Amino acid sequence: MVGIRVVLLGPPGAGKGTQAKLLQERFEACQISTGDILRQAVSEHTTLGKQAAGYISRGALVPDDLIVKMVGERLQAKDCEKGFLLDGFPRTLGQAQSLERILQERGLALDAVLSIEVPQQLIIERLAGRRTCRGCGSLYHLAFDPPKSDNVCDRCGGELYQREDDREETIKTRLSVYENQTAPLIHYYRERGILKPVDGVGTVDEIRRRVLQAVGA
Ligand code: AP5
Repeated sequence: MVGIRVVLLGPPGAGKGTQAKLLQERFEACQISTGDILRQAVSEHTTLGKQAAGYISRGALVPDDLIVKMVGERLQAKDCEKGFLLDGFPRTLGQAQSLERILQERGLALDAVLSIEVPQQLIIERLAGRRTCRGCGSLYHLAFDPPKSDNVCDRCGGELYQREDDREETIKTRLSVYENQTAPLIHYYRERGILKPVDGVGTVDEIRRRVLQAVGA
């Protein structure tokens, strides 16, 4: 397998996590989901978790310094040596600049930034029906990809839960945070010549094929 260094960019519910997991099966790369790392920290009541919990539950971004430190450390792990899939990072201009600096210090650069584009109505449907496994983190959707038994993970038998920030009011806040703070990164990466827009409307498999084409696989 070959390594790859990719950022998955897109609004909440665009399918970044779903596609990152599929890409990870195909390439030698670690998946770094900042949302998953933060939720784990919150559930374990670590210092980071206590600092981040309030921001996550109201749909705001966790401060850049905490996130950049967390990702910088994670990128040094052995499973990221050949490549990485960044899912949910960077999310601000400051984070993008920090990532560039971290990679430059190691003589590395991004291969591509995949911008997954999905209209707002579909985002709301995807988030409202999402269920996540507490055991293995597998993703389901009540309508589009339901588990065989209610609330039970097909893969590990773990309990499925609905994320606290997938309530309607918080979804609205997350969407506006995305527009104001994260969407400017589309321009940032387009200027650097590595932006690859991906139409995110369609089945998971259709989008997987578009994603693979975008990374030249
Ligand atoms: P995070 O966990 O990163 O949430 P997000 O970016 O809002 O993205 P989501 O995980 O909601 O969606 P996704 O695009 O991964 O979609 P998914 O594949 O699950 O962040 C949560 C919070 O943590 C933030 O609000 C913030 O507070 C904090 N945070 C995280 N990173 C941060 C950072 N860098 N800086 C500061 N703060 C940070 O798919 C959604 C659903 O749709 C699933 O049910 C799935 O099964 C379904 N689905 C996917 N694709 C399809 C398809 N093609 N057809 C039908 N259904 C589909």
